[in-house]
Amino acid sequence: MTSNPWLDILSLINGFQITQAIRVAATLCVADHLRDGPRSADELASLTHSNADALYRLLRALAAVGVFREIADRRFVLTPMSDCLRSDSSTPIGSWAEHVGNPYFWQAWGHLLHSVRTGENAFQDLHGIDVWQYRAEHAEANAIFNRAMTNMSRGGSEAVLSAYDFSGFAHIVDVGGGQGALLAAILSACPQARGTLFDQPRVVEGAEANLRERGVISRCNIVGGSFFDSVPEGGDAYLMRYVIHDWEDREAIAILKVCRRAMREPARLLLIERTVAPPNEIPATKFSDLNMLVVPGGRERTRDEFASLFEASGFALTRVAPAGMTNVMEACLR
Ligand SMILES: C[S@@+](CC[C@H](N)C(=O)[O-])C[C@H]1O[C@@H](n2cnc3c(N)ncnc32)[C@H](O)[C@@H]1O
Repeated sequence: MTSNPWLDILSLINGFQITQAIRVAATLCVADHLRDGPRSADELASLTHSNADALYRLLRALAAVGVFREIADRRFVLTPMSDCLRSDSSTPIGSWAEHVGNPYFWQAWGHLLHSVRTGENAFQDLHGIDVWQYRAEHAEANAIFNRAMTNMSRGGSEAVLSAYDFSGFAHIVDVGGGQGALLAAILSACPQARGTLFDQPRVVEGAEANLRERGVISRCNIVGGSFFDSVPEGGDAYLMRYVIHDWEDREAIAILKVCRRAMREPARLLLIERTVAPPNEIPATKFSDLNMLVVPGGRERTRDEFASLFEASGFALTRVAPAGMTNVMEACLR
């Protein structure tokens, strides 16, 4: 923030330009082309099949906000931020930029006023179907979303593993586990455990290669289905990362009750979710909450709101372990 409130709010208003500029740089894989050192805008344009003048204008704008750095002769280098756009980064974020800049997602945000006026889900009102059905019908949007989730999970897995000890579990079921990035990280750290990855059939279709690449496929079952119908039985830990925040309370309780039905003492439920901070703090969670309102039709919650969800679905919150930007919330059966 500067000392000029007009300039400060102007830069917030114009934030959408940065989102799209980063999305384009990510789509063109510019960061990968800078991995081995500086390159000129002309060279990058030829490598990315782009217009040299327009690409230079894109990169100098991004350099002005620290995403790249412009050096002499219209050449560019990576910065710590654009390093995360590299496909081989340990905390890769380029696929998230591609996902949030994707027109179907972006248009739902353009319909935020509808959500605020009515409390309804903007995506459903705009597209006439919910976001999961939309992705089921649009293979590319589905692939970009799943890749974004996998890469974001990869970046966040370390924090989860340092916050919570999974070594006491023999069978971990990851419900709504996407393509298995978090489960693979847990199984790699816990050689005694086996896992079951459960998600929608169209999502788990792409999981086998990930799990094989991480060397855990021999200890992992892959099951497709809907968590509104049933989830696999027999686990001693039921994990759900960033699943419950996609849903309003009625659906969230329905999902938790389905898990409860599959669980036997002494199994534990482990929700990995952000919690809403006190007033004026942690904008990321509060904007993620708006994202939940607009896109899937869910909400971020406070710790007490999570405790109430557990109570309503046959669980009791036993502990909350902070894990970086998120938390591991452990619950036992009641
Ligand atoms: C926000 S993503 C989180 C994915 C993963 N847990 C992670 O942290 O990367 C929510 C997941 O819920 C899954 N999902 C949505 N509806 C579902 C349903 N009815 N049954 C099973 N999974 C569902 C989605 O396919 C998606 O993978």
